[in-house]
Amino acid sequence: MYTQALDLPEPVSAPANGIAGNNVSASGAQGAAVHPLQAPSAAHAAQHAAQSARFEATLDADGKIEPRDFMPDAYRKTLLRQMSQHAHSEIVGMQPEGNWISRAPSLKRKAILLAKVQDEGGHGLYLYSAAETLGTSRDQMLDALHSGKAKYSSIFNYPTLTWADVGVIGWLVDGAAIMNQVPICRCSYGPYARAMIRICKEESFHQRQGFESLMVQMQGTAAQRAMVQDAVNRWWWPVLAMFGPPDADSPNSAQGKRFGIKRISNDDLRQKFVDATVPQTKVLGVSLPDPALQWNAARQCHDYGAIDWSDFWNVVNGNGPCNHERLATRRKAHADGQWVRDAALAYAAKQEQRSMKEAA
Ligand code: 3HC
Repeated sequence: MYTQALDLPEPVSAPANGIAGNNVSASGAQGAAVHPLQAPSAAHAAQHAAQSARFEATLDADGKIEPRDFMPDAYRKTLLRQMSQHAHSEIVGMQPEGNWISRAPSLKRKAILLAKVQDEGGHGLYLYSAAETLGTSRDQMLDALHSGKAKYSSIFNYPTLTWADVGVIGWLVDGAAIMNQVPICRCSYGPYARAMIRICKEESFHQRQGFESLMVQMQGTAAQRAMVQDAVNRWWWPVLAMFGPPDADSPNSAQGKRFGIKRISNDDLRQKFVDATVPQTKVLGVSLPDPALQWNAARQCHDYGAIDWSDFWNVVNGNGPCNHERLATRRKAHADGQWVRDAALAYAAKQEQRSMKEAA
């Protein structure tokens, strides 16, 4: 993709299993590799220390780490974990709304929905490209998804029962995604930050189209208004959980923050989202299914009720209402697309043969 550096360092070892592995030297991309059977020399140790110091100085100065720069293993691993999960979320996220493309109520709504679902596929592709710059192949990442080893966002394991769900996904799910993803535009890894700028612009359109669709439905019949309210009631709590566990129970937050990947904590983003959403419910004319929701003048933000974290973990661990369906659909789509990958590889091989013949 256009924002990525394509001059990757040469791999120096066989890829490790799963997505957590990488095939780039732990000691960095710029000539500091040590043979596994060799003890690191004093010169190597000094070089490693200098590279680590440069890495830390870049983070301290709020600079960007690029694919060919030295990065500690833990940084590469944390990024790869988050970016691959993020990419998987985008492509699995095509499914709940994709189910409604053939049932959209008008040509206009169908065109909007088609564009939105295609955008989500595009976001997945930018993110896989960005993640590949960390030295793990797209095939490895997809294998981890298809085998059930990799996570994707909990929110896409809930069903879309009515047309109002499509609007609510745009308004609330994409609204929550924007809240979470705008700070990632400032993250320390260049390819991820640049991909997120474009993604956030498109997510903004997604949020607006959802809100506008709900506004139209709310001006319709009593049954349509009830359908919107029902969808809001079903999605509200899973959307709040989407920001991740409370800060106190978030094992990756400390490292994500230290590495400049996570700029705002799970709880702070959740709070910002609640505060931004409440005034929108008034414009729309819907209520939120939380009797504890109220303005707290002392804290200058809203208090809200307890999230059911057992439901969240149940979904994250593969037992939500649609987990099996989502993964089965994803695996089938991948298998059905094999002929496209085969054709592309055959075409590339033919082109290479032709150019070699011409060069000879
Ligand atoms: N769904 C599934 N798993 C989740 C989750 C969620 N909503 N929230 C947290 N988790 C997982 C974490 O991945 C982690 O598991 P792991 O250690 O096996 O990776 C575990 O729960 C503990 O959570 P932490 O808070 O410690 O994890 P993080 O520090 O990584 O924070 C995050 C979680 C806030 C989701 C962060 O990874 C993040 O900001 N990711 C990038 C954004 C992203 O992936 N968004 C997904 C939605 S994409 C989307 O909505 C598409 C749009 O088009 C609608």
